[in-house]
Amino acid sequence: MCGIVGYLGERDAYPILIKGLQRLEYRGYDSAGVALLDHSTLHLYKKKGKVSDLEAEAAGKNQSGHLGIGHTRWATHGPPNDNNSHPHVSNNGKIALIHNGIIENYSSLKEALISRGFVFHSDTDTEVLVNLIEDVMNSEDLDLENAVRVALNQVIGAYAICVFSLENDRTIVTAKMGSPLVIGIGNDEFFVASDATPFLEYTKKAVYLEDGEMATINLDHGLRVRSIKDNRTIDPYVQQLQMDLASIEKGGYEHFMLKEIYEQPKAIYDTFRGRLLPDQNMIKMGGLFEYKEKFLNANRIIIVGCGTSWHAGLVGEYLFEDLARIPVEVEYASEFRYRNPVITDQDVVIAISQSGETADTLAAIKLAKEHGATIFGICNVVGSSIARETHAGAYTHAGPEIGVASTKAFTAQVTVLSLLAIEIAKMKGTLSETRYHELLEELNGIPKKMEAMLQSDSKVREISERFKDATNCLYLGRGYNFPVALEGALKLKEISYIHAEGYPAAEMKHGPIALIDENMPVFVIAPRNGQYDKIVSNIQEVKARNGKIVAIVSEGDTEIAKMSDFTLEIPDSSEAFSPLLTTVPLQLLSYHIAVMRGCNVDQPRNLAKSVTVE
Ligand code: G6P
Repeated sequence: MCGIVGYLGERDAYPILIKGLQRLEYRGYDSAGVALLDHSTLHLYKKKGKVSDLEAEAAGKNQSGHLGIGHTRWATHGPPNDNNSHPHVSNNGKIALIHNGIIENYSSLKEALISRGFVFHSDTDTEVLVNLIEDVMNSEDLDLENAVRVALNQVIGAYAICVFSLENDRTIVTAKMGSPLVIGIGNDEFFVASDATPFLEYTKKAVYLEDGEMATINLDHGLRVRSIKDNRTIDPYVQQLQMDLASIEKGGYEHFMLKEIYEQPKAIYDTFRGRLLPDQNMIKMGGLFEYKEKFLNANRIIIVGCGTSWHAGLVGEYLFEDLARIPVEVEYASEFRYRNPVITDQDVVIAISQSGETADTLAAIKLAKEHGATIFGICNVVGSSIARETHAGAYTHAGPEIGVASTKAFTAQVTVLSLLAIEIAKMKGTLSETRYHELLEELNGIPKKMEAMLQSDSKVREISERFKDATNCLYLGRGYNFPVALEGALKLKEISYIHAEGYPAAEMKHGPIALIDENMPVFVIAPRNGQYDKIVSNIQEVKARNGKIVAIVSEGDTEIAKMSDFTLEIPDSSEAFSPLLTTVPLQLLSYHIAVMRGCNVDQPRNLAKSVTVE
């Protein structure tokens, strides 16, 4: 988490940094700050709160400088306040640094620095690092580049850093270990950022640093990449970015989340485009075919992920077991990695991550890899750490997801899982030719069905109005739609701060039923092709206790409609694809409730989109 941005060139750095920080705010928004180098004078502005608070702080003050660094923070060490905001400056006032990550041994380093006379003004690990660099620079008489390298060799932890010295306004030094960092290369100008969005309008040429690499950017000598460990020179791979500016703007929608909900038909279509070929009665997936034997001979599939990606993994479990008859375990990456799990070279691990940077998921992959498992990644961000760490994979092509609460990434992940499960089932012979073809046709039709559903959300608004003041909500689903219940509840609590729980509908009677009274809204996902009769009984149980029922039902359902306070209809589909449809009204419901409650839907409190800390 935390977003970092840097600029070095002919232009004024300040507006570039501010716009860049706004684009990176999804990574954290506890505080923001910039450091500008105006010849040898430092202008430092930092403020608790959003980038807009920083702009207010810097308004009317000196914003000159062609070199600058900026930071938007998701607090780890120390509360969000002005002091803990980045950039941090070393004791002699000559080095400024921004950091995304966690320095795990900061406390012992800090003690050593204090004993050498250093004074600290914040609770952060970052202030330790900048002073360590100063200490190395002075005691070993090194230039900034070499001092950074020597200092980083004493550091344990994760970082993406960007640092400059007041004595050199033509150089920025950056380094990466565990947190993402990309360098944009323009004509006589350079950009540094946590992702490429801050510099898309200036250049499409980018170098993604690998873990353990540092780069010195100098206006006279250009870019020099080296290994932090042994100072070896590394040839940077310059890639041409495909992303365009329009994809990271709101495009007329009030919020990114709403835009992304509405983009889902396209996201799903883009995800299966070129892969799902019903006319030729085939699915084409390079990553799968390359590792086909591994999948076919797998003892089991282990799916790892966090948050919404973990929910997509749960849908995957139903798909793989139901269609391909392969046993599946779905694991929270954070639990998996620390549990001493049993992993063998007969296992296939599918890692799901929108950002491709989630620290726990990345660590889970590394662990499984060490034990010989085959790792298949499902990521949205091209070139992300997880995508690079896996043996094979399939990108979701959902486009940049900016809203912190994940929407289109989820349905795109489920789409990839559907393609995989269907194709593996065909290869294993667990699916008849006819059923295979039906599934291809049906998946192909999902974007159209979704589009139709999105035409009118007035009913969702009406329901949102009715329940916007609820304090608790229950979400129930069975089978394929149990994960949707979890995802629906997560969406609501994330952005509206209403406590919500997702449950398998049949489990309700083992606990949550005690909570049901006339004030408890219960959202039941009950499409016709699920375990319909069973869920009807569960609805009756809620009704008997006066709970308020909102049911997501198949078009034309009258039976559940009679028992419910409200219904929302979805087009008919196989149970296997119903999560792609039932998720949508629940996303919209959370969105409208959050807006009605005056919440910041795109940047909910305390959350961040890319969780690069454990
Ligand atoms: C954060 C985000 C969630 C996301 C989760 C996993 O908590 O707020 O929306 O589902 O991280 O992120 P990933 O990028 O690995 O899918």
